[in-house]
Amino acid sequence: MTELLIVYHSRTGGSRQMAQAAADAARGECGVSLRTADAAGPEDLLRADGYLFCGPENLAALSGLMKEFFDRCYYPVLGRVEGRPYAQMICAGSDGAGAARQLARIATGWRLKEVQPPLIVCTHAQSAEAILADKVIPDADLARCRDLGQALAAGLAMGVF
Ligand SMILES: Cc1cc2nc3c(=O)[nH]c(=O)nc-3n(C[C@H](O)[C@H](O)[C@H](O)COP(=O)(O)O)c2cc1C
Repeated sequence: MTELLIVYHSRTGGSRQMAQAAADAARGECGVSLRTADAAGPEDLLRADGYLFCGPENLAALSGLMKEFFDRCYYPVLGRVEGRPYAQMICAGSDGAGAARQLARIATGWRLKEVQPPLIVCTHAQSAEAILADKVIPDADLARCRDLGQALAAGLAMGVF
């Protein structure tokens, strides 16, 4: 069965809600494996037919745990996942572009095929207190995540990528 691997990290819950929304929608189209970044490994990447990466922007870059996933898996799967489709979702306070750019460069190194532009959800958290608080992602943004997850999974299942 066609499988979509969704790998995510979340410090304050936003990326987790986004990844779960995408996974719920994708499950209607193909098999879905939803893994936290610390639990995902090379074997998950090798088994899956396509990928959705989701995480926070921290200090203008991917969060450390998301980066650690890529650092740990990069060479074990290099040359073995070329051409597989992927998309990414970033949860950010106000920007998100730095994390998205960094993730895209890693995906380019793996020769993955970007099939959707990065989806960036901004929580508009500005103060330290707001940034450290648990997040509730609005329904409209979760709907964008669901749409992305469903489209990615449907495309995978139909083999259109
Ligand atoms: C240490 C730290 C650094 C952050 N740096 C940025 C940043 O550079 N740009 C940005 O837009 N948001 C930044 N944020 C805000 C987070 O991206 C935002 O709170 C988002 O909701 C985090 O996603 P999460 O809820 O999945 O952890 C930062 C948050 C923390 C805790």
